Amino acid sequence: MTHDNLPDRLAISDMPTENEIAFIKAQLTAYNHQQTAGKIDFPGFECELAMRSASGDIVGGINVSSVLGVMFLEVLWVAGEYRKHGLARRLVWVAERLAEKAGCVGAGTWTFSFQGPEFYPRLGYELIGIYDGYPFGITEHVLMKALPDERRPARDDMHDGFALIEEPTQEDMKVVYDGFHQSCVASAGDEMHNPGIHVQLVLKDAHGTAVGGLLASTTIRIMALEHLWVDARYRGQGYGKALVKEAERIAQTKGCVAVQGTCFSFQSSGFFPEVGYERFGIANLYLDDFTEEYLIKRFK
Ligand SMILES: CC(C)(COP(=O)(O)OP(=O)(O)OC[C@H]1O[C@@H](n2cnc3c(N)ncnc32)[C@H](O)[C@@H]1OP(=O)(O)O)[C@@H](O)C(=O)NCCC(=O)NCCS
Repeated sequence: MTHDNLPDRLAISDMPTENEIAFIKAQLTAYNHQQTAGKIDFPGFECELAMRSASGDIVGGINVSSVLGVMFLEVLWVAGEYRKHGLARRLVWVAERLAEKAGCVGAGTWTFSFQGPEFYPRLGYELIGIYDGYPFGITEHVLMKALPDERRPARDDMHDGFALIEEPTQEDMKVVYDGFHQSCVASAGDEMHNPGIHVQLVLKDAHGTAVGGLLASTTIRIMALEHLWVDARYRGQGYGKALVKEAERIAQTKGCVAVQGTCFSFQSSGFFPEVGYERFGIANLYLDDFTEEYLIKRFK
């Protein structure tokens, strides 16, 4: 497919090969690496923890990763009947301690309005932005805090009978991921059953070689931009804008009402206002004073 409004020479295809998708991801990764002198991958911290009850059941768990010195909580779940007993606090506390040891200087999370926007502030996380592009009154909250957190309890204040598993098996974590998914479905209903689609665009030169691309996915009637990269030779010529516009057009045909994006200060933050994105928050806990803007665009 060729995009009508494109400057000459390059074409956008909405059917990239697996190799082209991998190439686009690798190019953006290399760009981020080069712009931050490798710190984007520091400390490369990832961990999974699970909680076992006295009767031997997995009743909670957490999965975290890190980027540019900040630990991100990806999944946190405690089984319904064990909530409000301090189990999630304990899981987060241990994950933060491990992250600190690895060299993290901050911790952050994205949480839906039906999940933990009131839970995280109790653990010292501060609200830095609310994404309100979803329908049905759903919002998504971004919270962060600096590490080490001096307010944390200094000792292990676990309730009797629960055991923290520092090296859970895949089976243990399956219970956690399934429990987490079910809790989302229970709160957001059918929208969470809908897996959404991948929006994948590749920019090609006259020889069919990939020189740019955009990767995104849709969920709860919004599109989340994940990767956007144009080869340095072709920047400033309208190709990035053409990729974004084409992705937005596809998202709208799938019923999306808004877009969500993020942009680090070492990336092309001047680009997004040009294509109609507004900032709804900014994170400033990253290494080397790098910041990250959180972006929204609503379709009219
Ligand atoms: C959010 C969740 C992990 C909290 O687990 P939990 O074990 O009940 O949390 P804790 O008992 O450790 O709570 C710690 C503090 O937060 C408070 N808290 C917990 N959940 C809360 C909620 N939904 N609203 C307000 N406060 C809450 C507790 O009362 C406690 O307060 P205090 O110690 O300051 O008095 C759990 O409700 C859950 O698994 N929900 C479904 C999945 C989910 O939403 N995960 C978060 C995704 S980002």
